[in-house]
Amino acid sequence: MSASKSKPNSKARPSSAAELSAISAAASTMDNPSATTAPEATVSDKTVSDKIMPDKLSFAHDAVLLQEAVAAVLGVKSLPLQRDDTDAADNEENSLQASGIYVDATFGRGGHSRLLLSQLAGDAKLIVIDKDPTAITVARELASIDNRVHVIHDSFASLTDSLAAMGIMQVDGLMADLGVSSPQIDDGSRGFSFMRDGAVDMRMDTTRGQSVAEWLEQVDDETLANVLYDFGEERHSRRIARAIKEMSSYTSTLELAEVIKVAHPNWQRGKHPATQSFQAMRIFINNELGDVDSFLEQSIPILKAGGQLAVISFHSLEDRRIKQFLQRHSKGQYPEDENLPIRPDRPRYFSKPKRIGPSKAEVANNPRSRSAWLRTATRTEVAYQPDVE
Ligand SMILES: C[S@@+](CC[C@H](N)C(=O)[O-])C[C@H]1O[C@@H](n2cnc3c(N)ncnc32)[C@H](O)[C@@H]1O
Repeated sequence: MSASKSKPNSKARPSSAAELSAISAAASTMDNPSATTAPEATVSDKTVSDKIMPDKLSFAHDAVLLQEAVAAVLGVKSLPLQRDDTDAADNEENSLQASGIYVDATFGRGGHSRLLLSQLAGDAKLIVIDKDPTAITVARELASIDNRVHVIHDSFASLTDSLAAMGIMQVDGLMADLGVSSPQIDDGSRGFSFMRDGAVDMRMDTTRGQSVAEWLEQVDDETLANVLYDFGEERHSRRIARAIKEMSSYTSTLELAEVIKVAHPNWQRGKHPATQSFQAMRIFINNELGDVDSFLEQSIPILKAGGQLAVISFHSLEDRRIKQFLQRHSKGQYPEDENLPIRPDRPRYFSKPKRIGPSKAEVANNPRSRSAWLRTATRTEVAYQPDVE
């Protein structure tokens, strides 16, 4: 992290931390009566939140491992104590005033981005990326009041190209909070939920690509079963795939969930029998694992020496990939070299890989955090060697 004590440029930034947190609070608590931090909206706060929170924008998302991920991407152990009653953006005691270029590759509703912004100096840049058009609407509203924010509507798998198009070749910190957001699940019309009815869509980027319904129309039983097994670890994949393919149409998520429920021979207490199948179809249709692999590989050339990587994942398929990526690039030897007569020395692109889980208090406040892992690492000074693979 590079920290400067320069006075932030307040020209096109939120007038106060209260303004930033009003947007944040609106994003994280509206329609969420169980949220613990209900916004105490003042007249001016309300104006901001009203402006950016119509309809679909009002679905809530509680950012997971918030302090931990933001501290990691800034390369510090912990953040200065945040106080609600002070103007954090202008109060250097509460802000690291870090300079440099940072990327939040999964903006969502901007929980991590907003905390990160509160720690950045006026000359810093925050590039925010998301596939989801609704997330991008919220991000653009934030960019309209904070000139440090730059918005990219694309997959983080296009990280290098997207940044190069902005003239950025390297960054100081890179974070991603993988998977779906609560707003995506809570909005039944997006098709992610087996509890709320909607079109069988499940695309994060609704402006391109094939929906799950379109894919189910033409996929064969065996391919479908393989997807359910590979991406949902669903042991009854064949039986479920056959039942899905016997459906006459795919127009309702509740109907699809019901068919899976009936076909599933082994219900577990407290878990809907369609959980793993829905997860599998979502991961497949959004190419989630391929995008994560690509993002991780691009982090090597994109991060400056000393730059920080912080990635949060919510299931073992992703966490395993991140773990193996960091092991591979921090140990100087690759597991696949094990059987070679002479094991070549591989570049050590990362150091200090760490894994951090949520506290008990966070899990109690936000049960969605219980399966989250944050993995962090520091980019070493070793120059990127694209040929060494
Ligand atoms: C868990 S949410 C992030 C929440 C965010 N950290 C916050 O505090 O509001 C994940 C977000 O990543 C986005 N996403 C998932 N895969 C993506 C990809 N390959 N490229 C860009 N965005 C992606 C989703 O659309 C979703 O908005």
